[in-house]
Amino acid sequence: MARYSIHSLRELKARGQRFAMITAYDFPGARLVEQAGARIILVGDSLGSVVLGYDSTVPVTMDDILHHTRAVVRGTERAIVVADMPFMSYQANADEAVRNAGRLLQEGGATAVKLEGGSNVAPLVRRMVESGIPVMGHLGLTPQSVNQFGGHKVQGRTPAAAARLVNDARVLEEAGAFAIVLETIPAPLAKMVSGRLTVPTIGIGAGPDCDGQVQVFHDMLGIYDDCRAMKHARAYANLGATIRQAVRDYIAEVESGAFPTEEHSFPMDEATLRELSLDTAADAPGGERGSPVGAGSRPVRGA
Ligand code: KIV
Repeated sequence: MARYSIHSLRELKARGQRFAMITAYDFPGARLVEQAGARIILVGDSLGSVVLGYDSTVPVTMDDILHHTRAVVRGTERAIVVADMPFMSYQANADEAVRNAGRLLQEGGATAVKLEGGSNVAPLVRRMVESGIPVMGHLGLTPQSVNQFGGHKVQGRTPAAAARLVNDARVLEEAGAFAIVLETIPAPLAKMVSGRLTVPTIGIGAGPDCDGQVQVFHDMLGIYDDCRAMKHARAYANLGATIRQAVRDYIAEVESGAFPTEEHSFPMDEATLRELSLDTAADAPGGERGSPVGAGSRPVRGA
């Protein structure tokens, strides 16, 4: 079955039907997210903080995003996979930017790319779209500029900043962006932008009136304990605690001898075992009788 088309998102907007985008970074995550019904998955550069352990998205490289995009694509059949363009993969020069965006489709298998910025990146968005690369925009709190913003602050709060954001959204749409992420901006501003565009907006910390919403996999599943402290996130599960408890249970069972049991072990027929015991006895130094080795041998997965 073919993947959803990027145009289907505009149709959803036209029908007033909200949709959810979720990040994923690997094969099992992507598989679970698609099985749960997501039609669009973002291989976000949030990879840097939630998977690779950096304190921002800035250190993430093209190789990182390519590697993780391939895994997400392998884990999906129908979802639109959007690969984030990492910091410095599109800022330095336009030719390199288009080539890098192309690599995410050609080598990564992504359906589209996402890049941060407004009027400043619009000519680039136009070039990419003209080259056949679908582009998602990203406005508001754009994490690659966090050092410039002086931290994770709500954007578009002053009349000038809000007007700039409204204009940036219009310019990105004109340049051919098929959707625009609005991150951490006042809800009324996101509502205004969403009402003025024909392409869908996808909000995170931008209120309920965007056409779609996006959440980071690890935040919405409660993998880290501090995600409850983030105003823009809701944890729909508490997987961090669930995983820790499962691992504690496993360690305790190994230490007590409760795992593995016969149920998890592979038998050997008595005749083979007897023959083996005789052979090992003959081979043993000084002709001593060796103990049967069958019971302790490591089973091969799937054997
Ligand atoms: O990298 C990311 O996960 C993102 C989303 C938060 C929109 O850009």
